[in-house]
Amino acid sequence: MKPVEIKKGIWWVGAIDWNVRNFHGHTYTTKRGTTYNSYLIVDEKIALVDTVYGPFASELIENISRIVPPEKIDYVIANHVETDHSGAMPALMELCAKAKVYGTAKCKEGLYKNYYKDWDFQTVKTGDTLKLGSRTLTFIEAPMIHWPDSMFTYCREEELLMPNDAFGQHIATSERFDDEIDQCALMDEAAKYYANILIPLGSIILKKIEDVLKTGIPIKMIAPSHGIIWRKDPMKIVSSYISWAKNETRQKVVIIYETMWGSTEIMAYKIAEGVAAAGVSVRLFDITQSDRTEVIKELLDAKGYIIGSSTHDNDMLPSIAGFLDFIKGLRPRNRVAAAFGSYGWGGGAVSSIERVIKEAGIALVQPSISVRYVPDESEKLRCYNFGADFAKSCLIKGGA
Ligand code: FEO
Repeated sequence: MKPVEIKKGIWWVGAIDWNVRNFHGHTYTTKRGTTYNSYLIVDEKIALVDTVYGPFASELIENISRIVPPEKIDYVIANHVETDHSGAMPALMELCAKAKVYGTAKCKEGLYKNYYKDWDFQTVKTGDTLKLGSRTLTFIEAPMIHWPDSMFTYCREEELLMPNDAFGQHIATSERFDDEIDQCALMDEAAKYYANILIPLGSIILKKIEDVLKTGIPIKMIAPSHGIIWRKDPMKIVSSYISWAKNETRQKVVIIYETMWGSTEIMAYKIAEGVAAAGVSVRLFDITQSDRTEVIKELLDAKGYIIGSSTHDNDMLPSIAGFLDFIKGLRPRNRVAAAFGSYGWGGGAVSSIERVIKEAGIALVQPSISVRYVPDESEKLRCYNFGADFAKSCLIKGGA
Protein backbone atom coordinates (compact mmCIF):
# COMPACT_ATOMS: atom_id res chain seq x y z
CA MET A 1 0.00 0.00 0.00
CA LYS A 2 1.40 3.40 -1.00
CA PRO A 3 2.42 6.10 1.49
CA VAL A 4 -0.31 8.37 2.82
CA GLU A 5 0.43 11.95 3.90
CA ILE A 6 -1.22 12.22 7.32
CA LYS A 7 -0.01 15.80 7.95
CA LYS A 8 1.90 18.09 5.61
CA GLY A 9 5.32 16.42 5.29
CA ILE A 10 4.46 13.51 7.58
CA TRP A 11 3.84 10.21 5.83
CA TRP A 12 2.44 6.84 6.83
CA VAL A 13 4.95 4.45 5.26
CA GLY A 14 3.93 1.24 7.03
CA ALA A 15 2.73 -2.15 5.88
CA ILE A 16 -0.60 -3.95 5.86
CA ASP A 17 -0.73 -7.57 6.99
CA TRP A 18 -4.00 -8.62 5.39
CA ASN A 19 -3.80 -12.31 6.20
CA VAL A 20 -2.40 -12.58 9.71
CA ARG A 21 -4.95 -14.46 11.83
CA ASN A 22 -2.86 -15.18 14.92
CA PHE A 23 -0.73 -12.67 16.74
CA HIS A 24 1.61 -12.71 19.74
CA GLY A 25 2.33 -16.40 19.32
CA HIS A 26 -1.30 -17.50 18.98
CA THR A 27 -2.45 -15.57 22.07
CA TYR A 28 -4.55 -13.16 19.97
CA THR A 29 -6.68 -13.92 16.92
CA THR A 30 -6.74 -11.17 14.31
CA LYS A 31 -9.76 -11.87 12.14
CA ARG A 32 -9.45 -8.48 10.43
CA GLY A 33 -5.65 -8.68 9.95
CA THR A 34 -3.46 -5.82 11.12
CA THR A 35 -1.10 -3.06 10.07
CA TYR A 36 2.38 -2.08 11.19
CA ASN A 37 2.40 1.70 11.10
CA SER A 38 5.58 3.64 10.54
CA TYR A 39 5.72 7.41 10.17
CA LEU A 40 8.25 9.39 8.11
CA ILE A 41 8.71 13.04 9.08
CA VAL A 42 10.40 15.08 6.38
CA ASP A 43 11.87 18.34 7.67
CA GLU A 44 15.37 19.85 7.63
CA LYS A 45 16.22 16.55 9.27
CA ILE A 46 14.36 13.35 8.44
CA ALA A 47 13.01 11.07 11.14
CA LEU A 48 11.28 7.71 10.96
CA VAL A 49 9.04 6.84 13.90
CA ASP A 50 8.99 3.05 14.34
CA THR A 51 9.57 0.46 11.65
CA VAL A 52 7.48 -2.64 10.82
CA TYR A 53 7.53 -6.40 11.35
CA GLY A 54 10.63 -7.97 9.75
CA PRO A 55 8.90 -9.85 6.91
CA PHE A 56 7.50 -6.49 5.73
CA ALA A 57 10.86 -4.66 5.67
CA SER A 58 10.93 -4.44 1.87
CA GLU A 59 7.48 -2.78 1.85
CA LEU A 60 8.66 -0.23 4.39
CA ILE A 61 11.82 0.51 2.43
CA GLU A 62 9.86 0.79 -0.82
CA ASN A 63 7.42 3.21 0.79
CA ILE A 64 10.20 5.34 2.28
CA SER A 65 11.94 5.37 -1.11
CA ARG A 66 8.81 6.85 -2.69
CA ILE A 67 9.30 9.91 -0.46
CA VAL A 68 13.05 10.15 0.20
CA PRO A 69 16.07 7.91 -0.36
CA PRO A 70 16.34 5.80 2.86
CA GLU A 71 19.99 6.79 3.30
CA LYS A 72 18.81 10.35 3.95
CA ILE A 73 17.12 9.33 7.20
CA ASP A 74 18.82 11.10 10.12
CA TYR A 75 16.90 9.60 13.02
CA VAL A 76 15.05 6.36 13.68
CA ILE A 77 12.75 6.65 16.68
CA ALA A 78 12.14 3.28 18.33
CA ASN A 79 9.09 3.68 20.52
CA HIS A 80 9.03 -0.05 21.31
CA VAL A 81 11.32 -3.05 21.01
CA GLU A 82 8.72 -5.71 20.17
CA THR A 83 9.53 -7.27 16.84
CA ASP A 84 6.32 -6.20 15.08
CA HIS A 85 7.71 -2.64 15.28
CA SER A 86 11.46 -3.14 15.27
CA GLY A 87 11.82 -6.23 13.07
CA ALA A 88 12.65 -4.19 9.97
CA MET A 89 15.37 -2.17 11.71
CA PRO A 90 18.33 -4.38 10.71
CA ALA A 91 17.40 -4.14 7.01
CA LEU A 92 16.67 -0.42 7.22
CA MET A 93 19.80 0.42 9.20
CA GLU A 94 21.89 -1.24 6.48
CA LEU A 95 20.63 1.54 4.20
CA CYS A 96 20.94 4.44 6.63
CA ALA A 97 23.91 3.36 8.71
CA LYS A 98 24.61 6.92 9.90
CA ALA A 99 21.14 7.37 11.35
CA LYS A 100 20.95 7.79 15.12
CA VAL A 101 18.43 5.62 16.96
CA TYR A 102 16.35 7.23 19.72
CA GLY A 103 14.63 5.29 22.47
CA THR A 104 14.50 4.61 26.19
CA ALA A 105 17.30 2.90 28.12
CA LYS A 106 15.23 -0.30 28.18
CA CYS A 107 14.75 0.03 24.44
CA LYS A 108 18.51 0.20 23.94
CA GLU A 109 18.95 -3.00 25.96
CA GLY A 110 16.07 -4.75 24.21
CA LEU A 111 17.14 -3.84 20.68
CA TYR A 112 20.64 -5.10 21.36
CA LYS A 113 19.34 -8.39 22.80
CA ASN A 114 17.15 -8.88 19.72
CA TYR A 115 19.52 -7.87 16.92
CA TYR A 116 23.06 -7.69 18.41
CA LYS A 117 23.86 -4.52 16.45
CA ASP A 118 25.86 -1.56 17.72
CA TRP A 119 23.69 1.17 16.28
CA ASP A 120 24.43 4.75 17.29
CA PHE A 121 21.86 5.04 20.08
CA GLN A 122 20.64 8.10 21.94
CA THR A 123 18.87 7.24 25.18
CA VAL A 124 15.97 9.57 25.99
CA LYS A 125 13.76 10.29 28.98
CA THR A 126 10.39 11.97 29.38
CA GLY A 127 10.58 15.59 28.26
CA ASP A 128 13.68 15.18 26.08
CA THR A 129 13.29 16.76 22.66
CA LEU A 130 14.69 16.38 19.19
CA LYS A 131 14.54 19.34 16.82
CA LEU A 132 14.04 18.40 13.19
CA GLY A 133 13.80 21.94 11.77
CA SER A 134 10.33 23.43 11.81
CA ARG A 135 9.17 20.56 14.04
CA THR A 136 10.29 19.24 17.39
CA LEU A 137 9.70 15.78 18.73
CA THR A 138 9.14 15.31 22.46
CA PHE A 139 9.58 11.91 24.05
CA ILE A 140 7.36 10.53 26.80
CA GLU A 141 8.43 7.33 28.54
CA ALA A 142 5.48 4.94 28.92
CA PRO A 143 6.89 1.92 30.78
CA MET A 144 4.58 -1.10 30.84
CA ILE A 145 2.27 0.31 28.20
CA HIS A 146 2.84 -2.36 27.43
CA TRP A 147 6.55 -3.29 27.73
CA PRO A 148 9.22 -1.75 29.99
CA ASP A 149 10.79 -0.03 26.98
CA SER A 150 7.60 1.56 25.62
CA MET A 151 7.61 5.26 24.74
CA PHE A 152 5.33 7.81 23.08
CA THR A 153 6.60 10.41 20.61
CA TYR A 154 4.80 13.75 20.36
CA CYS A 155 5.16 16.38 17.64
CA ARG A 156 3.98 19.61 19.21
CA GLU A 157 3.78 21.73 16.03
CA GLU A 158 1.40 19.19 14.50
CA GLU A 159 -0.32 18.31 17.81
CA LEU A 160 0.35 14.72 16.82
CA LEU A 161 0.85 11.88 19.31
CA MET A 162 2.51 8.68 18.12
CA PRO A 163 1.99 6.29 21.06
CA ASN A 164 2.97 3.02 19.40
CA ASP A 165 0.75 0.17 20.65
CA ALA A 166 -1.49 2.36 22.85
CA PHE A 167 -4.82 3.23 21.21
CA GLY A 168 -4.12 0.74 18.40
CA GLN A 169 -6.33 -1.90 16.85
CA HIS A 170 -5.73 -4.92 14.67
CA ILE A 171 -7.50 -3.92 11.45
CA ALA A 172 -6.16 -4.25 7.92
CA THR A 173 -7.80 -1.70 5.63
CA SER A 174 -6.86 0.50 2.71
CA GLU A 175 -8.23 3.42 4.75
CA ARG A 176 -5.95 5.08 7.27
CA PHE A 177 -8.28 7.33 9.29
CA ASP A 178 -11.10 6.86 11.81
CA ASP A 179 -13.58 8.94 9.77
CA GLU A 180 -13.14 6.62 6.80
CA ILE A 181 -14.23 3.31 8.32
CA ASP A 182 -17.14 1.71 10.11
CA GLN A 183 -17.20 2.99 13.70
CA CYS A 184 -18.57 -0.24 15.21
CA ALA A 185 -15.75 -2.29 13.69
CA LEU A 186 -13.20 0.28 14.81
CA MET A 187 -14.36 0.39 18.44
CA ASP A 188 -14.84 -3.38 18.49
CA GLU A 189 -11.20 -3.89 17.54
CA ALA A 190 -9.98 -1.14 19.90
CA ALA A 191 -11.86 -2.80 22.79
CA LYS A 192 -10.53 -6.22 21.82
CA TYR A 193 -6.99 -4.85 21.79
CA TYR A 194 -7.38 -3.28 25.22
CA ALA A 195 -9.06 -6.35 26.72
CA ASN A 196 -6.55 -8.88 25.47
CA ILE A 197 -3.36 -6.93 26.06
CA LEU A 198 -3.87 -4.02 28.43
CA ILE A 199 -6.37 -5.06 31.15
CA PRO A 200 -3.67 -5.91 33.72
CA LEU A 201 -2.03 -2.52 33.16
CA GLY A 202 -5.09 -0.37 33.87
CA SER A 203 -3.67 1.60 36.81
CA ILE A 204 -0.46 2.40 34.89
CA ILE A 205 -2.44 3.43 31.81
CA LEU A 206 -4.76 5.65 33.82
CA LYS A 207 -1.86 7.45 35.50
CA LYS A 208 -0.02 7.95 32.21
CA ILE A 209 -3.11 9.37 30.51
CA GLU A 210 -3.78 11.67 33.47
CA ASP A 211 -0.14 12.84 33.49
CA VAL A 212 -0.17 13.56 29.76
CA LEU A 213 -3.53 15.37 29.91
CA LYS A 214 -2.33 17.41 32.92
CA THR A 215 0.52 18.84 30.86
CA GLY A 216 -2.13 20.45 28.67
CA ILE A 217 -0.44 19.45 25.43
CA PRO A 218 -2.96 19.68 22.62
CA ILE A 219 -3.61 16.42 20.78
CA LYS A 220 -5.37 16.75 17.43
CA MET A 221 -4.29 13.40 16.03
CA ILE A 222 -3.28 10.06 17.55
CA ALA A 223 -1.31 7.86 15.19
CA PRO A 224 -0.77 4.43 16.77
CA SER A 225 1.41 1.70 15.35
CA HIS A 226 -1.44 -0.69 14.57
CA GLY A 227 -4.58 0.02 12.59
CA ILE A 228 -6.44 3.25 12.16
CA ILE A 229 -5.29 6.83 12.91
CA TRP A 230 -7.58 8.85 15.17
CA ARG A 231 -8.08 12.31 13.59
CA LYS A 232 -11.82 12.95 13.73
CA ASP A 233 -12.14 12.70 17.49
CA PRO A 234 -8.93 11.47 19.14
CA MET A 235 -10.38 12.06 22.60
CA LYS A 236 -12.99 9.37 21.89
CA ILE A 237 -10.44 6.60 22.24
CA VAL A 238 -8.72 8.38 25.15
CA SER A 239 -12.07 8.50 27.00
CA SER A 240 -12.65 4.82 26.29
CA TYR A 241 -9.19 3.97 27.64
CA ILE A 242 -9.92 5.96 30.81
CA SER A 243 -13.20 4.07 31.30
CA TRP A 244 -11.59 0.68 30.65
CA ALA A 245 -8.62 1.50 32.88
CA LYS A 246 -11.01 2.44 35.69
CA ASN A 247 -12.63 -0.99 35.26
CA GLU A 248 -16.01 0.57 34.61
CA THR A 249 -18.52 -2.14 33.72
CA ARG A 250 -22.19 -2.49 32.93
CA GLN A 251 -24.95 -4.83 34.02
CA LYS A 252 -23.74 -7.75 31.97
CA VAL A 253 -22.88 -11.35 32.77
CA VAL A 254 -20.68 -13.61 30.65
CA ILE A 255 -21.11 -17.37 31.11
CA ILE A 256 -18.20 -19.44 29.88
CA TYR A 257 -18.14 -23.21 30.18
CA GLU A 258 -16.90 -26.53 28.86
CA THR A 259 -19.15 -29.57 28.87
CA MET A 260 -18.35 -33.29 28.42
CA TRP A 261 -21.73 -34.94 27.75
CA GLY A 262 -24.05 -31.90 27.84
CA SER A 263 -25.12 -31.67 31.51
CA THR A 264 -22.97 -28.63 32.26
CA GLU A 265 -24.36 -27.05 29.10
CA ILE A 266 -27.94 -27.63 30.29
CA MET A 267 -26.96 -25.90 33.53
CA ALA A 268 -25.38 -23.00 31.60
CA TYR A 269 -28.54 -22.39 29.58
CA LYS A 270 -30.74 -22.41 32.69
CA ILE A 271 -28.37 -20.06 34.53
CA ALA A 272 -28.46 -17.72 31.53
CA GLU A 273 -32.26 -17.74 31.62
CA GLY A 274 -32.17 -16.77 35.28
CA VAL A 275 -29.72 -13.92 34.68
CA ALA A 276 -31.77 -12.55 31.79
CA ALA A 277 -35.04 -12.85 33.74
CA ALA A 278 -33.48 -10.66 36.42
CA GLY A 279 -33.00 -7.93 33.82
CA VAL A 280 -29.26 -8.28 33.35
CA SER A 281 -27.67 -8.69 29.94
CA VAL A 282 -26.08 -12.10 29.38
CA ARG A 283 -23.66 -13.70 26.91
CA LEU A 284 -22.93 -17.43 26.81
CA PHE A 285 -19.92 -19.21 25.34
CA ASP A 286 -18.91 -22.86 25.06
CA ILE A 287 -15.18 -22.17 25.20
CA THR A 288 -14.40 -25.13 22.93
CA GLN A 289 -16.50 -23.55 20.17
CA SER A 290 -15.48 -19.94 20.73
CA ASP A 291 -12.69 -17.59 19.75
CA ARG A 292 -10.93 -16.86 23.05
CA THR A 293 -9.88 -13.36 21.91
CA GLU A 294 -13.53 -12.46 21.23
CA VAL A 295 -14.68 -13.92 24.56
CA ILE A 296 -12.11 -11.84 26.44
CA LYS A 297 -13.37 -8.74 24.64
CA GLU A 298 -16.86 -9.59 25.97
CA LEU A 299 -15.41 -9.65 29.50
CA LEU A 300 -14.19 -6.05 29.22
CA ASP A 301 -17.49 -4.35 30.06
CA ALA A 302 -19.11 -7.22 32.00
CA LYS A 303 -19.60 -7.00 35.74
CA GLY A 304 -20.07 -10.73 36.27
CA TYR A 305 -18.38 -13.91 35.09
CA ILE A 306 -19.93 -17.35 35.64
CA ILE A 307 -17.55 -20.18 34.87
CA GLY A 308 -18.57 -23.81 34.43
CA SER A 309 -17.04 -27.21 33.75
CA SER A 310 -17.85 -30.87 33.94
CA THR A 311 -15.54 -32.80 36.24
CA HIS A 312 -12.82 -34.87 34.62
CA ASP A 313 -10.11 -36.59 36.68
CA ASN A 314 -11.30 -34.64 39.76
CA ASP A 315 -10.65 -31.36 37.98
CA MET A 316 -12.08 -29.01 35.35
CA LEU A 317 -11.79 -29.81 31.65
CA PRO A 318 -8.62 -28.65 29.85
CA SER A 319 -10.02 -25.93 27.54
CA ILE A 320 -11.75 -24.03 30.33
CA ALA A 321 -8.63 -24.52 32.49
CA GLY A 322 -6.54 -22.87 29.76
CA PHE A 323 -9.02 -20.02 29.45
CA LEU A 324 -9.02 -19.42 33.21
CA ASP A 325 -5.25 -19.41 33.22
CA PHE A 326 -5.40 -16.56 30.69
CA ILE A 327 -7.90 -14.69 32.90
CA LYS A 328 -5.60 -15.14 35.88
CA GLY A 329 -2.91 -13.33 33.90
CA LEU A 330 -5.27 -10.50 32.90
CA ARG A 331 -6.38 -9.96 36.55
CA PRO A 332 -9.55 -7.95 35.81
CA ARG A 333 -10.69 -5.81 38.76
CA ASN A 334 -14.11 -4.75 40.06
CA ARG A 335 -15.73 -7.96 38.81
CA VAL A 336 -17.73 -10.71 40.53
CA ALA A 337 -17.83 -14.40 39.72
CA ALA A 338 -19.36 -17.78 40.51
CA ALA A 339 -18.78 -21.40 39.46
CA PHE A 340 -20.96 -24.27 38.33
CA GLY A 341 -20.64 -27.74 36.85
CA SER A 342 -21.79 -31.33 36.63
CA TYR A 343 -20.05 -34.45 37.89
CA GLY A 344 -20.59 -38.23 38.06
CA TRP A 345 -19.05 -39.30 41.38
CA GLY A 346 -16.15 -37.49 43.11
CA GLY A 347 -16.55 -33.97 41.69
CA GLY A 348 -13.75 -31.42 41.79
CA ALA A 349 -14.28 -29.06 38.83
CA VAL A 350 -16.10 -26.30 40.70
CA SER A 351 -13.58 -26.19 43.54
CA SER A 352 -10.77 -25.90 40.97
CA ILE A 353 -12.63 -23.08 39.20
CA GLU A 354 -13.16 -21.27 42.49
CA ARG A 355 -9.47 -21.59 43.35
CA VAL A 356 -8.40 -19.99 40.07
CA ILE A 357 -11.02 -17.25 40.34
CA LYS A 358 -9.62 -16.36 43.78
CA GLU A 359 -6.07 -16.44 42.41
CA ALA A 360 -7.19 -14.00 39.71
CA GLY A 361 -8.36 -11.62 42.44
CA ILE A 362 -12.02 -11.80 41.41
CA ALA A 363 -14.67 -11.87 44.15
CA LEU A 364 -16.73 -15.06 44.49
CA VAL A 365 -20.14 -13.74 45.48
CA GLN A 366 -22.13 -16.92 46.02
CA PRO A 367 -21.57 -20.63 46.62
CA SER A 368 -21.04 -22.69 43.50
CA ILE A 369 -23.71 -25.03 42.16
CA SER A 370 -23.04 -28.68 41.22
CA VAL A 371 -25.33 -31.30 39.69
CA ARG A 372 -24.70 -35.07 39.64
CA TYR A 373 -25.07 -36.59 36.16
CA VAL A 374 -28.03 -35.05 34.28
CA PRO A 375 -30.01 -32.16 35.85
CA ASP A 376 -33.65 -33.00 36.68
CA GLU A 377 -36.40 -30.37 36.69
CA SER A 378 -35.77 -29.29 40.29
CA GLU A 379 -32.03 -28.98 39.59
CA LYS A 380 -32.77 -26.94 36.48
CA LEU A 381 -34.84 -24.62 38.65
CA ARG A 382 -31.94 -24.35 41.08
CA CYS A 383 -29.71 -23.34 38.18
CA TYR A 384 -32.24 -20.74 37.03
CA ASN A 385 -32.38 -19.30 40.57
CA PHE A 386 -28.58 -19.40 40.77
CA GLY A 387 -28.46 -17.15 37.69
CA ALA A 388 -31.15 -14.82 39.03
CA ASP A 389 -29.32 -14.50 42.37
CA PHE A 390 -26.01 -13.84 40.65
CA ALA A 391 -27.62 -11.13 38.53
CA LYS A 392 -28.39 -9.19 41.73
CA SER A 393 -24.63 -8.93 42.37
CA CYS A 394 -24.24 -7.36 38.93
CA LEU A 395 -26.70 -4.52 39.36
CA ILE A 396 -24.99 -1.16 39.05
CA LYS A 397 -26.47 1.94 40.61
CA GLY A 398 -27.86 4.03 37.79
CA GLY A 399 -26.39 1.50 35.37
CA ALA A 400 -27.73 -0.47 32.47
FE1 FEO B 1 2.59 -4.07 18.56
FE2 FEO B 1 3.92 -4.54 21.66
O1 FEO B 1 3.85 -4.65 19.80
